Amino acid sequence: MKSVMITGGAGFIGSNYARFALEQHPDWKVIVYDKFTYAGNPDNLTDLASRFKGRYTLVRGDIADREAVFDAVKQHGIDIIINFAADSHVDRSIEEPGTFIMTDCYGTYELLEAARAFKIERYHQISTDEVYGDIEPPGRSAEADPLRPSSPYSASKTGGDLLCLAYHRTYGLPVTITRGTNNIGPFQYPEKVVPVWVTNAIDNQPLPLYGDGRQMRDYQYVLDHCEGIDIVVTKGVPGEAYNVGSGVETTNLDLAHAILDLLGKPYSLIQPITDRPGHDRRYAVDNNKVRGLGWAPSHTFAQAIEKTVRWYRDNESWWRKIKTGEYLDYYKRQYGGREVK
Ligand code: NAD
Ligand code: TYD
Repeated sequence: MKSVMITGGAGFIGSNYARFALEQHPDWKVIVYDKFTYAGNPDNLTDLASRFKGRYTLVRGDIADREAVFDAVKQHGIDIIINFAADSHVDRSIEEPGTFIMTDCYGTYELLEAARAFKIERYHQISTDEVYGDIEPPGRSAEADPLRPSSPYSASKTGGDLLCLAYHRTYGLPVTITRGTNNIGPFQYPEKVVPVWVTNAIDNQPLPLYGDGRQMRDYQYVLDHCEGIDIVVTKGVPGEAYNVGSGVETTNLDLAHAILDLLGKPYSLIQPITDRPGHDRRYAVDNNKVRGLGWAPSHTFAQAIEKTVRWYRDNESWWRKIKTGEYLDYYKRQYGGREVK
């Protein structure tokens, strides 16, 4: 049995990956280690304890807390750390950068220190295509390109990546990195664009659209990303980063239209608002390196968005519970008074 620590495993991608890993690797024990910030949700993991008896453990802890990290790594005899834990939303990083630096940089440092102290066999960092900054068409960011992050979120994630690469070079730590594009699918906290728009549209509420809506993102289905991560964890070369993304970009306006079409709602729900400061126009990745390990996406954009919209339509109780209290305060702070006529 291998003992695998999935930090941030109660969040969106981490919980999808924890389930995927337990299904794919019968010889893995999974220890989800999570601080349970507003984005960490026990409802994302409810099926795991009964489905994978004896192979799944949940530990509450902060990755920036050395004692708690070292205790967990020691107590569970961790062989592999896969770090999903992060503050992850660009708009929140513009509002309050401090927690991003603490978790995404300093927390990464503490995990790397634990990996070094306990000589673990693999440390894998979940990173983002946002570390490259935006790129003019028809360019695509490749792994060796310079990192030019634009937001406090992407700058903090870049700090995490650079520490990982430094620990590989300096201490020979067996580190790999995946830089994923935007994920969509079940259990995404309704602050990212797709769950905000889908849940608003279901309730006939406006879909806030930043600026001219011509910004482009590569929206991939979360399980495609999980497969890419898994291939890199098991077959990737230490010291290397791998882009994981579908290679297909969609404008925000086209995304809004796709969601409204799937739900049979009018385009008049789209509400232009003032743009996000520092807003990156376009992300696009070259995914040939991870394809070289045998990965390919299984979902087209149309399939990914259809499955995603269906999940939010079928699981209203999951997101209605979130869209109360602190969430409503955030929503008002974030969007209030920004309408553009
Ligand atoms: P999320 O916000 O849904 O979940 C983050 C999880 O990390 C939560 O469970 C939270 O409680 C936990 N966490 C936060 N701070 C912590 C700390 N200090 N210690 C322990 N746990 C902590 O995020 P997500 O969208 O699932 O993203 C997961 C990872 O993937 C992040 O590293 C993010 O940068 C990266 N990523 C996300 C996307 C995307 O589209 N969402 C794309 C590429 C890369
Ligand atoms: P988001 O989901 O926040 O991800 P990213 O980390 O790529 O910024 O936003 C995706 C795109 O959607 C981005 O171009 C900003 C835009 N957007 C809106 O137009 N309205 C919104 O309410 C949100 C949250 C994002």
